[in-house]
Amino acid sequence: MKIALIGYGVVGQGLIEILRDKHAEWQAQYGLNVQVVGVATRSRGTLIHPHGLDLHALTAPASVENLAHYPHSAGLVRDVGVLELLRASGAEVIVEVSPSQLETAQPALDYVRHALRNRQHVVLANKGPVAVALPELIALARANGVQLRYEATVMAGTPCFQLLEHGLRGLQIEAVRGILNGTTNYILTQMEGGMSYADALAQAQALGYAETDPTADVDGWDAAGKLRILGAVIFGKSLTFENLSVQGISQLTTQDIQDAQAHQERWKLVAQLTRQGGSVMPTRLPISHPLAGVSGATNAITFTTDLLGDVTLVGAGAGKHVTGYGLLNDLLAIASVL
Ligand code: HSE
Repeated sequence: MKIALIGYGVVGQGLIEILRDKHAEWQAQYGLNVQVVGVATRSRGTLIHPHGLDLHALTAPASVENLAHYPHSAGLVRDVGVLELLRASGAEVIVEVSPSQLETAQPALDYVRHALRNRQHVVLANKGPVAVALPELIALARANGVQLRYEATVMAGTPCFQLLEHGLRGLQIEAVRGILNGTTNYILTQMEGGMSYADALAQAQALGYAETDPTADVDGWDAAGKLRILGAVIFGKSLTFENLSVQGISQLTTQDIQDAQAHQERWKLVAQLTRQGGSVMPTRLPISHPLAGVSGATNAITFTTDLLGDVTLVGAGAGKHVTGYGLLNDLLAIASVL
């Protein structure tokens, strides 16, 4: 399976590192045979090698800093535009891991449209195109006989869409509620331990949890974008941000956190959605509430269903390798039908 990456930030590097380290294992177990034939970045160069790039060289610090430092070899092509990379790399699967732009989703949305029209499967960790245009992209993928997969867009590698697609098949989902942003949950947890908001945010950035522009996390828009994706998948609804009431955690003070603690309560950024609409709101929960026990960059989602009642999934919500794993899971799903 030949894959090409659009974007080579934390998540793209996470995928390449786990492929570098675990490919042999997956090849033996699942017959997975991945070649990375292209990597495109906006300002750090672009590489194509039709026979596959060397993953050790690609993950060397110098290459990560700028792909110009990747060693030359016969067949290597450098610095072509993204549309040219889609075509010239010979990739069967395009992995979109550029930073999420949640308003217009551009330029990633156009790249995804091009890839699907080229009959290339598309796997995304970039939330923008999925939040903005999922129904259109599903139709385009179907018309071109390829798959569009986006497990890593919500709850990183924790398989919430696999659960919806397989485990909860046939059920009516009436509501969704949970903690869908790792950065803010990490910040709130650290503040409970006495750390300042600014230090906790800086740590979340250093750990690779935060978006390129972390205001998307702390002001609630990242979680709201995930609700838009869930709304499209579960209710077939194209939600816009106007349909959601959104508030983040940036106004919460250390005093607010301590007040809650003194009353055996915790602040959590709770996202919820029904067919009627949804919200992302800082909410004070009693310490006995199941969501109150979800700490750090962990996420949780509860699906309220007609026949099973509440089903809750808890797991990693943000981070380099956990998000890389979400992409890998999608690649395995595509490999099974190639
Ligand atoms: N910035 C996001 C978060 C990354 O903190 O949840 C995962 O989508």
